[in-house]
Amino acid sequence: MVEKKNISISIDGPSASGKSTIAKILAKRLGYIYIDTGAMYRAFTLACLNNDINCEDEKASCSLIGKIEIGFNDLNHVTLNGIDVENEIRKNNVADNVSYIASYKDIRLDLVNQQRKLAENNNVIMDGRDIGTYVLPNANVKIFQIADVKERARRRYLENLEKGIQTTYEECLANLEKRDYIDSHRSFSPLKPAIDSIEINTTNLGINEVSNMIIALLKERGIVTKNEQ
Ligand code: DC
Repeated sequence: MVEKKNISISIDGPSASGKSTIAKILAKRLGYIYIDTGAMYRAFTLACLNNDINCEDEKASCSLIGKIEIGFNDLNHVTLNGIDVENEIRKNNVADNVSYIASYKDIRLDLVNQQRKLAENNNVIMDGRDIGTYVLPNANVKIFQIADVKERARRRYLENLEKGIQTTYEECLANLEKRDYIDSHRSFSPLKPAIDSIEINTTNLGINEVSNMIIALLKERGIVTKNEQ
């Protein structure tokens, strides 16, 4: 019998463009595993902060490679050395420093290695910045999700409010603009659409509209059947 190859779907795009919301819904609908790669960079950042490492210092930050363990638990929450840090990684001190950490090649290579292993044996939906271009260049479907930065700041502000994280709309906007710049200008594996990706602008679209668009695409390509959605 010919074994069915694992399916992988990549969703890339700037911060707060709605990637994780859509990826979680699709993973549930399709029974795939959701991998939030941004959470892994955030967990690494938290590890640096916990060890009083200045995240702008590449050498000091990279010194933690191999000394910390980042993974996901049964709730699909990111863990640092076995501890659930899903809430902590969303806080401002992590958001303000994560782009530095994500720009260091050695840290990226270490985390990309883990991300590829996760995709080897499972059907996955992976979201991030370089999934379609670098981590999973053979992904079955590649989505590049964008949205106007003001709309993204509004969404992030409301999300923080709901989680009890103290921020203003202006702070969210400034943080997103700064991260957009660093993420798309770093030399190794910057944020950019894969040539074979499909762009979806979510500024004026609801969550269901976006997930239905992607499911329609998967059906069109014969990746899912009616029974699997
Ligand atoms: O998606 P997020 O906001 O949680 O991502 C946090 C940071 O990590 C963001 O500034 C970009 C970076 N990142 C990255 O460089 N590559 C990825 N595959 C995922 C995230």
